[in-house]
Amino acid sequence: MKTPTYSEFVLRRLHSLTGVIPLSFFIFFHFSANSFSTVGEEAFDGVVKQLRGLPFLEAIEWGLLFSPFLFHMVYGMYIIFTSRSNPRRQSYGRNWAYVMQRVTAIVVFVFILYHVIGIRFIDAAGQPRVYELLHAKFSNPFTYWWYIVGITCTCYHLANGICTFLMTWGITVGRTSQRFAAGAMTAVGLILLFIGVSAVNGFLKVPKRPDMPLNVHQVLPTTSAPTSKETLVAKQ
Ligand code: HEM
Repeated sequence: MKTPTYSEFVLRRLHSLTGVIPLSFFIFFHFSANSFSTVGEEAFDGVVKQLRGLPFLEAIEWGLLFSPFLFHMVYGMYIIFTSRSNPRRQSYGRNWAYVMQRVTAIVVFVFILYHVIGIRFIDAAGQPRVYELLHAKFSNPFTYWWYIVGITCTCYHLANGICTFLMTWGITVGRTSQRFAAGAMTAVGLILLFIGVSAVNGFLKVPKRPDMPLNVHQVLPTTSAPTSKETLVAKQ
């Protein structure tokens, strides 16, 4: 295995660090905020309103969120498509985890672009009734299952990523500490998965307001032309 140059070493460490700070912390916060959907429309839209009212929101988003996300995603893709195979000699289980870390990275890459561009920048931009919008979106089975896959891959990538992060930074060196970290992170991943899936299911509750559409197709206006009989009646 060739020795990395100084800049490669720094970029690798930065990639590793951004995976935890801020990405993993943000995912926990994001899933927890979204789980207000389980309380109801008012509670969820209230949380959205509060977050949108944060001072310096754009600076926080671009400086602390989008930039580290973009760096981790783009450099992650570079790592995946330039490294040949697992360079370290490891157990069968850890080799699988290594492969799955990269497979889930690619799924999460597509999912994040789809989610952030679609929801943050297009559908929910300036829209006050976000619960209603997501209710309509998740009523489509394709969208619903795509979110479940995206959330599951995110949870795996985050939980296994924290295990490798602890090894990268020399926090878990021995076998016992690595096993302990693997157990603890499995629990963390499963808890996060529960919160994420519950948040999505929270949007599928029976709508409280009678005017709320039941699914995405019912949001569209009905444009069918009046029948000749209806026109005749209207004229009379
Ligand atoms: C939900 C968002 C994400 C979170 C929370 C996250 C978190 C992490 C963490 C904690 C690590 C471990 C770092 C280490 O081993 O020191 C990691 C590794 C990695 N991430 Fe992410 N990540 C996310 C999204 C992505 C995306 C979209 C990609 C796109 C390609 C990606 C690519 C990678 C790769 C390739 C590794 C392995 C690096 C290595 O083994 O050297 N990640 N990620």
